[in-house]
Amino acid sequence: MTTVQDGLRFLTQYLQNERQASWPEVVVDHPMREARLLLAHAMLLPADRLSLLAYDQLDESTLETALIYASRRRMGEPASHIVGSRAFYGRDFFVDKRVLDPRPETETLIAAALAAPFSQVLDLGTGSGAIIVTLMCERPDSVGVAMDLSEDALAVAEQNATTHGVVDRIGFDVSDWFQAVGGQFDLIVSNPPYIAADEMGALQPEVRLYEPRIALTDGADGLTAYRRITAGAPDHLTPGGRLIVEIGPTQAAAVAQMMTDAGLSDVSVTQDLDGRDRVVTAHKA
Ligand SMILES: C[S@@+](CC[C@H](N)C(=O)[O-])C[C@H]1O[C@@H](n2cnc3c(N)ncnc32)[C@H](O)[C@@H]1O
Repeated sequence: MTTVQDGLRFLTQYLQNERQASWPEVVVDHPMREARLLLAHAMLLPADRLSLLAYDQLDESTLETALIYASRRRMGEPASHIVGSRAFYGRDFFVDKRVLDPRPETETLIAAALAAPFSQVLDLGTGSGAIIVTLMCERPDSVGVAMDLSEDALAVAEQNATTHGVVDRIGFDVSDWFQAVGGQFDLIVSNPPYIAADEMGALQPEVRLYEPRIALTDGADGLTAYRRITAGAPDHLTPGGRLIVEIGPTQAAAVAQMMTDAGLSDVSVTQDLDGRDRVVTAHKA
């Protein structure tokens, strides 16, 4: 008899085996964790249920399904696309090729936003909607506006807002940063594309091939979006309002200077859990 535990062990080994000859760059960094996700998905169960079922029988067709998922993973497809969701700040978000997978680092931006009260939020470059949906869930009296240049991304964000019961409190629209934004907000958040064009070649294939280029890079020095966002923010912040952006770890000084030059004050930098500069916050006087 094959048990769930046997299946998990087999899939873990399969994922950590030597790199694909046909695709030598693909390395599964967390084979055990991803094996759990894929097996649970094949069993139509949440991953945290697997341990309880470790000694139950695993039928052959379920193991075959899990193996198909694992072979897709070894060919480079992200586990989040195979299972159709990614966990972010304790909630599951639907993701596919239309959006960036929400990253754990972005939870640092959420923590910074939640550190002070807000009631009207603007999320620029909303992608999957992970940021705005989380903020609306965490602060049930708030309302928000979610903008993105990608209509495809907005469709995903709206789907996630519906799933999490906050769609009625968010307006969605296509906008090139502030171009279609009206009114003022006491909180503006953004995690814009910040990878420089010449850094793109170093990305893992699952990022380069499965996430939209527009979500990753500005095609230039990685700072284009910050120039636009910091220049536009003062007109769209209420007095005392905050601008909070995620950054790449080497961009803190440049982005902080842009905020100061735009007339914003109390500029501060927050580190992520790995101790890298990750979020810059500024206030309108
Ligand atoms: C790094 S992703 C962030 C997605 C999501 N906010 C998150 O944190 O997971 C950047 C997002 O900015 C959007 N974007 C890129 N250029 C833009 C522009 N000129 N105006 C508005 N949004 C843009 C992309 O479509 C993408 O959804």
